[in-house]
Amino acid sequence: MMLADFPLFPEQASTAARTVDTLYLFLVALTGTVSILIWIVIFYFAIKYRRRPDNELAQEQEPPKALELTWTIVPTIIFLGIFVWGAWAFFHVQRVPDDAIEVYATGRQWMWKFQHASGQREINTLHVPVNRPVKITFASEDIIHSLWFPAFRVKADVLPSRYRTMWFQATKTGRFHIFCAEYCGTLHSGMTGWVEVMEPTAYQRWLAGGSEGSMASQGEQLFQKYACNTCHTNDATGRGPVLAGLYGKTIQLADNRNVVADDNYIRESILNPQAKIAKGFTPIMPTFQGQVSEEDLMRLLAYVKSLGQPQTSSLAVESPRSLQTSAGAPTTTGAAASTSTAAPATNTNP
Ligand code: CUA
Repeated sequence: MMLADFPLFPEQASTAARTVDTLYLFLVALTGTVSILIWIVIFYFAIKYRRRPDNELAQEQEPPKALELTWTIVPTIIFLGIFVWGAWAFFHVQRVPDDAIEVYATGRQWMWKFQHASGQREINTLHVPVNRPVKITFASEDIIHSLWFPAFRVKADVLPSRYRTMWFQATKTGRFHIFCAEYCGTLHSGMTGWVEVMEPTAYQRWLAGGSEGSMASQGEQLFQKYACNTCHTNDATGRGPVLAGLYGKTIQLADNRNVVADDNYIRESILNPQAKIAKGFTPIMPTFQGQVSEEDLMRLLAYVKSLGQPQTSSLAVESPRSLQTSAGAPTTTGAAASTSTAAPATNTNP
């Protein structure tokens, strides 16, 4: 009763939770057992080999080779096993499934802001469907924070300078904590929120409540507002590279290096265009550092992604659509239509 009121662990509510907990409990049990054994042996030897008169002293003996080999080989095998197990768990937590729903998050002193690919925005609350992988792309608007979902056993630093991603798949509906896990100033302890895990139909209804258009279409408006479209035209006549089909592709730079046009490349190319000039182009683009907010950057990113990405990856607005088929509920069709111009996949790199 008392124990139930003070649980040692948060609830297990994601596919990663059991994996992480099992490994953690194994490590605790193993190190605990070895510690206890060491203490028992210390006490036993302290008594057995206590100080004696000079005439009772034992002869020093070389330990048997077999014993030395055993205490070297057995721990090596155990530690390598822990490494393999840990690496396997790490890859499970790091590798985002291809069909994940996309959510964007920004942290700032002192709140969490989330925006769904379909356009809905929320603060300190995140709605997600149960039993679907959810990918979060995040960055900080000021200093380092850390986005932590204890019940899902995922946590990652939120950096002001670049995008990072995490994912989880909730396994039960309900309300679970969101914390900031990096001390970030006066109200750090108040930088909390709730993730609401919903049935797919309820999530679908919730998604349909927004009316601002998808993130990609909001990004498209920004693309025009900042006059990006005057240089980045849809054909090769523009002064800037064509962006259709760019996302996820390996491109060659003016200095002959190759880079993958991923989230962080696009971010850098907007904020600091001179850093990596695509081959065949002159560095004429001005910097947008300080002019585009973190959230607008994410909308621009969502727009560039919607212009074409590998087929294996889920386009932002496809997630609600595939949910819709199972739920049979109406959805934000206007938002979906505006970004249905995905170019054919040219790259299978997720
Ligand atoms: Cu944000 Cu601590």
